[in-house]
Amino acid sequence: MPSQHSAYVSDTAPERGALRAARSWLHSDAPSRSLNGLWRFRLSPTASVAEDFAAEGFDDTGWDDIPVPSHWVLRGDGAYGRPIYTNVQFPFPIDPPHVPDENPTGDYRRHFEVPADWSEAERVVLRFDGVESLFKVWVNGDEIGSASGSRLAHEFDVTSSVRPGDNVVSVRVHQWSAASYVEDQDQWWLPGIFRDVTVIARPAGGIEDVWLRTGFDNGRGQVETEVTADAAAFPVTLRLPELGVEQVWATAADVAPLDVDGVEPWSAERPRLYDVTVSTAAESIALRVGFRTVEIRGDRFLVNGRRVVFHGMNRHETHPERGRVFDEEHAREDLARMKRFNVNAIRTSHYPPHPRLLDLADELGFWVVLECDLETHGFDKLGWVGNPSDDPAWREAYLDRIRRTVERDKNHPSIVIWSLGNEAGTGTNLAAMSAWVHARDAGRPVHYEGDHAGEYTDVYSRMYSSVLETEQIGTDGSRAPLLNCTPAQGARQRTKPFLLCEYAHAMGNGPGALDQYEALVHEHPRLHGGFIWEWRDHGILTTTPDGTPFYAYGGDFGEVVHDGNFVMDGMLLSDDVPTPSLHEYKAVVQPVRFTFDGDEVAIANLRHSADTSDLRFHWRVEHDGTLVDSGDMEVPVVAAGESARVPLPRIPVAQDAETWLTIDAVLAAETAWARDGHVIATAQLDRSTRRPVPAVRRETDWRPSDGTLALGIAEFVDGSLVRLAGRAVAGPRLELFRAPTDNDEGATQEVEESDASVAGVSNAELWRRDGLDRLTTRLLSVERSADALRTISKVSAANSALSVIVESVWSLVGGELELRVEIEPSRGWLTVWPRIGIRFDLPDGAAPVDGAEWFGLGPLESYPDSLRAARTGRFSSTIRDLSVDYARPQETGHRSHLRQLTLTSAGAGVLRIVTFPDTRGRRPGFTLSRHTPQQIAQAGHPFELPDSTTSHLIVDAAQHGLGSRACGPDVWPEFALRPEARTIRLRIAGG
Ligand code: GAL
Repeated sequence: MPSQHSAYVSDTAPERGALRAARSWLHSDAPSRSLNGLWRFRLSPTASVAEDFAAEGFDDTGWDDIPVPSHWVLRGDGAYGRPIYTNVQFPFPIDPPHVPDENPTGDYRRHFEVPADWSEAERVVLRFDGVESLFKVWVNGDEIGSASGSRLAHEFDVTSSVRPGDNVVSVRVHQWSAASYVEDQDQWWLPGIFRDVTVIARPAGGIEDVWLRTGFDNGRGQVETEVTADAAAFPVTLRLPELGVEQVWATAADVAPLDVDGVEPWSAERPRLYDVTVSTAAESIALRVGFRTVEIRGDRFLVNGRRVVFHGMNRHETHPERGRVFDEEHAREDLARMKRFNVNAIRTSHYPPHPRLLDLADELGFWVVLECDLETHGFDKLGWVGNPSDDPAWREAYLDRIRRTVERDKNHPSIVIWSLGNEAGTGTNLAAMSAWVHARDAGRPVHYEGDHAGEYTDVYSRMYSSVLETEQIGTDGSRAPLLNCTPAQGARQRTKPFLLCEYAHAMGNGPGALDQYEALVHEHPRLHGGFIWEWRDHGILTTTPDGTPFYAYGGDFGEVVHDGNFVMDGMLLSDDVPTPSLHEYKAVVQPVRFTFDGDEVAIANLRHSADTSDLRFHWRVEHDGTLVDSGDMEVPVVAAGESARVPLPRIPVAQDAETWLTIDAVLAAETAWARDGHVIATAQLDRSTRRPVPAVRRETDWRPSDGTLALGIAEFVDGSLVRLAGRAVAGPRLELFRAPTDNDEGATQEVEESDASVAGVSNAELWRRDGLDRLTTRLLSVERSADALRTISKVSAANSALSVIVESVWSLVGGELELRVEIEPSRGWLTVWPRIGIRFDLPDGAAPVDGAEWFGLGPLESYPDSLRAARTGRFSSTIRDLSVDYARPQETGHRSHLRQLTLTSAGAGVLRIVTFPDTRGRRPGFTLSRHTPQQIAQAGHPFELPDSTTSHLIVDAAQHGLGSRACGPDVWPEFALRPEARTIRLRIAGG
């Protein structure tokens, strides 16, 4: 039985005691004191401990110190428990609204000073910006009240309990409460006081709240002001000095909308803000307003009359050391990074961020979908039986959450849509939230993805719909049914703007097909883009028992119930490193598009409203990746939505090398988020003269050498290659396996697009079943003719009759070694293959292979459905940097369309490889790694990879695409690698 002290943990009512109504988070000159800093702290295993700690004379000398804000599970080296990661699952029995007696409970205490002159304040308020999950507050022993809503602000009136001088505040925080049932977001459970605590003096005659609703219409701005203040607080003055506005309202009844001339609009591209103050004699509030009008017209979502395309990221608040504790500098750098990668929108998944984040979004320029702190996903398992979203007992809790969400952040021009929450099923409480928003803020539409049938929301939203399905949503003629909709409901949804609140699950290596989704946005105006899942990995920095640091995911803290590495699905690794997927994203959504046509290029400006006056255009010509000419391009200013045709520069074309023109659109001047010269958009034009693939003219030069037989730089024993250019080499052996990506391990049901996949079974599982990771070889024949060595092998796996015949022919052409490999699968292979490659193992010896220089696609890894960021050029990298440190090791490092490759050791070339296109013009790619695919597949974390004494080069005739199947569609058929015969032809020379 819960004690009298803890019964409230099962109470669905959101607030008790002296809680004040929600209001904006304002920058006021009224006095306040931050209570951030060290607090005394004690952790108890249950909620039922006595509350005597809150009494005034309580002796807390035996307690610890803990910083506020922080999460206790990230402090104390495990002494205060460990983080738990679950996606959908509840880490406690599903017994709503009850939670177990085992309920870690943190008691916090600290002293604080109230200045003597605060006695003039009308009221003293104690504000908590974020406490997970339920907390109760005492001041000087008086019980003040309690609240839940972890990522929401709560203010208590403590006027009658504080006194000038020393005061004691005590806070009890329970990890689990009824609120936990509606905070089941896919993230770490991180209890504690994790946002700011502030004590505020509210002056008599002050401004309790203010809301400046702005609009923009053809150069004219509107400000509609809502002031919450006592009658005695008037007059109220609004000043907007930059536009010469000073408006005094003598009484509340006088407050009226203002029209302002000569206004520049606010947009995510040109985030023009104006400083405003709203003052009474007692208090002045500083705001930054942006003028913009949000509107839905038919199936279009418009800001200032123009259609918005969301190139967005789902942004959680997560940091490897701080968890959800906000750090402004880090957040600003993160947002600046988004801007540098052409991101223009943020969905605050799945709760309001720290309030300062919205100031930054206003200032740097993002379209924001501001989401309420609400998710009940764990009820899905029960067929949504008992879901709070449709239970009247929870109605007030739901309304409280949306009120706190909207009221806190209503002044931000960046917020263009309110979102009710995420994955909370559907029900009347959600409809009630929507109705409340509609009544309170007619200027912004309501979003909630779970309203599939469109009963109470203004935009149609989906997550992870396939390319085909998304296209059908954008199309009117289609009768294709929409998810969970009757035909009539589907028709209703098609009358609304559509957005993908989540798509392209960026877990591990991937996603593919970003360009296919983007193409749809430009074909079907109803489709307004979407938000990648998600911006960053949620890894928590920790160490192995021997002190090796690593980024932990679910299960690494010994959780009983967890969801593994599903929390590592960002475009940024935990340590802020952008993955290749973010570079791909940047290229796919670049706001300037180039279309080459003869000796001209059409330059289209795809932005919402900004012209190209902030850009310069730079070109360069390279021959086989070597710069031969460059210059600036004269481009007229192109208005948003327009394009201009511009002559190309003179391009010197090489006869014996590839000729490529590259054009970059770069920033002409420094911005708040990037340096002058930062590349916004790029395009390449291949102007190479066609050259025939050289025919093979074999020469004879067999030499016996030291028990082996040599042909040029190659030495063989019994038909097997043993050395190249004097260095030991094993292989080439057929490699069909890649360390499965998280997408390869995905087992979604959605497979209609790729008939080689099996619903509910991952491709990785099928590969393991077929033994692709454990192939064995049987040499069928070795035949040495006067001018070549030909070997034929049969490659197959234990207990399988499937096989691949590999024929290798070594010869000498023009004094250089040539290898031709024919790869021919037997009948009967049913699955897709991860790759069709040949692997060379290069043991370290005296000069280990530790780098590569190449001419081909680069600089980063690329795959058939993720090629847009890759450009043709000459690149170099250390072997280390060729691989990406995905949180769970997996396939990485493939460079596509290789022409020339030099393997290097300490900067010096040791082996040179030239590739040839096959008869269909396809070039191989390569991977150079310190680990084999089989070794990588064994490791759960980077630190589990074994020490290596060998470098492994894989030359791939083909790789399977990436797809998004960890949570979404499989690889698109065109990029799925079905077993097929392939040829690899290489020239190999010494360094
Ligand atoms: C969605 C959910 C996200 C996240 C994602 C998978 O269904 O809204 O919170 O769980 O799937 O990573």
